[in-house]
Amino acid sequence: MKALILSGGKGTRLRPITHTGAKQLVPVANKPILFYAIESVVKAGISEIGMVVGDTEAEIREAVGDGERWGAHITYIRQTAPLGLAHAVKESESFLAGHSFVMYLGDNLVRDGIEAFVKEFTERRPDAMILLAPVQAPERFGVAELQDGHVVRLVEKPAEPKSDLALVGVYLFTPKIFEAVRAIRPSARGELEITDAIQWLLDHDAKVEPHIVHGWWKDTGRLEDMLEANRIVLDGLEASNKGTITGSSQLIGKVVVETGAVVENSVVRGPAIIGRGARIVNSYVGPFTSIYHTVEIRNSEIEHSIVLEGSRILDVAGRIEDSLIGKDVVIRRRQTMPKALQFMLGDHSEVELT
Ligand code: G1P
Repeated sequence: MKALILSGGKGTRLRPITHTGAKQLVPVANKPILFYAIESVVKAGISEIGMVVGDTEAEIREAVGDGERWGAHITYIRQTAPLGLAHAVKESESFLAGHSFVMYLGDNLVRDGIEAFVKEFTERRPDAMILLAPVQAPERFGVAELQDGHVVRLVEKPAEPKSDLALVGVYLFTPKIFEAVRAIRPSARGELEITDAIQWLLDHDAKVEPHIVHGWWKDTGRLEDMLEANRIVLDGLEASNKGTITGSSQLIGKVVVETGAVVENSVVRGPAIIGRGARIVNSYVGPFTSIYHTVEIRNSEIEHSIVLEGSRILDVAGRIEDSLIGKDVVIRRRQTMPKALQFMLGDHSEVELT
């Protein structure tokens, strides 16, 4: 078996973060989301991985490398245009070369991994297997209709979903999928939908089996989902401290302090992670917060948030919550008159004031 991990796409729902970076590299509990996908695939015993990339190819290559650190071998496949998931499969045909494969969307997180799923597929040998999970807003996903445990219909983002079973972004295919991706036509959003390709298989008497996911699953395409994924992953970490804790500081509950981080006269209430070389001074870091490498937080309070590399939060009055703050951002209290709000925000930034 081989694996195809999809790591292209524009990430429009996570702008402005994705104006300058790939959505799959946003860290959840200080680890890029994409790394969780690679780990799951490797844990399921698959080491030949095709990484489908688009405009953010250079960045993904730099972060991921050749896969050696996971004991895997990664081949990069440049998608010629962002024309959909089924298009990505079509363009990966020579890499997949007649093998069955798992396709994993690089912005998805599946708590229990994919081992059971891959095992069931190899034992039962259907033409395709899909992962399904009940969700509250099925209209945002591909939706499956089942009858007596059999898949009868799949519709991509239906206005009126017939069930609450969403297609999780992990699929298992035999080479039969290539017939399907060649046969289908672009959807209303102009993409070759993998959902339509699987429907094509159903229409042509192929065996498509469902597998219901019971543990949590997240598609991290939106801020709320990203924060939720961060919350769940942080909650599963074990406390550890490789940094320096000084003065009146207190680490409460599950707190991970990475190498070279300094916590000075501050309270960190877990679950939380403080990245390499970060500095937290006279501040409060509350539960469900991931502070990435070399961030500085001084005389400020933050909770339930993700802060990316090199950002600085200085002397901010009032607590920052529910936020995703990009790389090298500076948020600080103005020291001179007049006491006005001053912004320099990138395109599609969002600021909420109290
Ligand atoms: C894609 C698929 C959709 C699936 C979802 C899972 O949606 O088209 O069927 O439910 O991934 O994450 P997209 O994220 O491209 O909107």
